[in-house]
Amino acid sequence: MSDEQKALLLDSVRKYHQEIQEERPFVPGVTEIWPSGAVLGVEERVALVEAALDLRIAAGRNARRFESAFARKLRVRKAHLCNSGSSANLLAVSALTSPQLGDRRLRRGDEVITVAAGFPTTVNPILQNGLVPVFVDIELGTYNATVERVAAAIGPKTRAIILAHAVGNPFPVAEMAELAKEHRLFLVEDNCDAVGSFYDGRPTGSFGDLATASFYPAHHMTMGEGGCVVTSNLVLARVVESLRDWGRDCWCAPGESNTCMKRFEHRMGSLPDGYDHKYIYSHVGYNLKTTDLQAALGLAQLARVDEFCASRRHNWRRLRDGLDGVPHLLLPEATPRSDPSWYGFVITVVPGAPFTVPELVDFLEERKIGTRRLFAGNLTRHPAYAGQPYRVVGELTNSDIVTSQTFHVGVYPGLTDEMIDYVVSSIREFVKTYG
Ligand SMILES: Cc1ncc(COP(=O)(O)O)c(C=O)c1O
Repeated sequence: MSDEQKALLLDSVRKYHQEIQEERPFVPGVTEIWPSGAVLGVEERVALVEAALDLRIAAGRNARRFESAFARKLRVRKAHLCNSGSSANLLAVSALTSPQLGDRRLRRGDEVITVAAGFPTTVNPILQNGLVPVFVDIELGTYNATVERVAAAIGPKTRAIILAHAVGNPFPVAEMAELAKEHRLFLVEDNCDAVGSFYDGRPTGSFGDLATASFYPAHHMTMGEGGCVVTSNLVLARVVESLRDWGRDCWCAPGESNTCMKRFEHRMGSLPDGYDHKYIYSHVGYNLKTTDLQAALGLAQLARVDEFCASRRHNWRRLRDGLDGVPHLLLPEATPRSDPSWYGFVITVVPGAPFTVPELVDFLEERKIGTRRLFAGNLTRHPAYAGQPYRVVGELTNSDIVTSQTFHVGVYPGLTDEMIDYVVSSIREFVKTYG
């Protein structure tokens, strides 16, 4: 296809995009106010079609461009794309078990500190690697772990900490990194809900030994499905890449060969001398790669992520100001010294309130205002974790409160001021009926 034909086709895609856009007026109580969603525009449509026209299927040029751009954005040295945030967490935790880390590698039975209330796939890779999660409670209001709680959980078998920046709100990550360093522990930041957040003026995701991102449509930017592992540690970066790409030792990009200049001169394991490096496996790996079409979409979204994050901050602030002073509700607070790029607006109905969460949530859902729980709430109460090895340090009182009393509404960039104001007035109206 000539460049001219391609330009014409992409021009038609732009026109098509304009034509199918329809202004849908907001009708309170009728229009759905989603708790999350993707915002996709003309450039995303063009990027996907262009990648399809070029038949760029497997991860290639776009994936590499995305990885360098995303690493720059998070101010880290390396980024590795993968097919989901859950896979990114699996890669990050699995990387800590690599024999290439020598005596620092995590071994079966070692402990990893995390929180009890959050998303399951922050915790699952601990169990999937034969490690033992040690659960601590969270704080109400910030929904994060504190340094004191994590410090109290450190024992002789502790080797790592993995924590998510809860609903976009950074945990005290600089202090947590200090604590980890003091005790020779690895720190993994699950940054899946917090791309664009800052702590002490530095992007979250740039403090830990490793950090992860999710590009599922509910998150700050999307590829449909997708995730990323970032790190400034080049040894860990190689391990992540190996685990993502079948466990291979070779690092040549698809279609490349012999970038090490000694493809047939390696001696590894008990393989015959000179066995083709492309097929030497140094890890028991996976295939968790993306396609190049996903990366093309990701590049178009990355160009808009600052605008998306600004809109999330605006929507969160409007809800926070609008709901200030409403009785019986505990409103969210940013962690001190942080500038969160919020994932959602979390509300806890204070225990003893004259109404229940299901009553409030039903009222909102009737009005087409979408709500979600704080993910799993207390994970230890779910059937999946019955019989799994874990340790709990302290009481999980707040995790239990979150399980019965907490939910969130959306702040994603597709929401308008009118919608946010309707959410505020609906909550106010509901609470007022209870005096
Ligand atoms: C904190 C956290 N970690 C990990 C994930 C998993 O991401 P994905 O859905 O891309 O697998 C999520 C999903 O929402 C999440 O909220």
